[in-house]
Amino acid sequence: MAVRNATDLFLTELGDMYSAERQITKILPQLAGESADAEVKSAFEMHLRQTQQHIQNLDQCFSLLGTQPPNVDCEAVKGLKKEHETFKKENPPEDILTMFDLGAALKTEHYEIASYTGLIGMARLMGQTQVVNLLEQNLNQEKEMAQKAEQLSRQLGQRLAGPPPQSRAGQQPTA
Ligand SMILES: [Fe+2]
Ligand SMILES: [Fe+2]
Repeated sequence: MAVRNATDLFLTELGDMYSAERQITKILPQLAGESADAEVKSAFEMHLRQTQQHIQNLDQCFSLLGTQPPNVDCEAVKGLKKEHETFKKENPPEDILTMFDLGAALKTEHYEIASYTGLIGMARLMGQTQVVNLLEQNLNQEKEMAQKAEQLSRQLGQRLAGPPPQSRAGQQPTA
């Protein structure tokens, strides 16, 4: 779409998130399916349900603004999906793939957090209070998921690293 003013920019950015969320609903079941860790699997499944709600909230934003979602493709999420496909071709062990997926989830959530933060700022300036509320609901769930992905990644990372090295009390610090 032609972008001529701040409202056009807002609608383009909102359309980018609409595209992102729709792509994410296709990626999350794949991530849940390839994780052997029950807690990770259920985190992806829970965020899938939240993401479906995010799309409904965005639909509501567009109807409050009296318009349809513009035809925008979120290239960032497309790129993250491509990175996932490329990584999988290397046939990583299951828990390494899960670790990668948690990192990819964290990157995705931070993209969403940055996007919603910007959109909320613009919606506030436009005086669109209901749109602000809907976008804040999405933002809060992205923040929760980012925290969850970070926590699960730390837990799995500790398991993969194995027990900490035995006492190094006798060692002199180098330099
Ligand atoms: Fe989302
Ligand atoms: Fe998300």
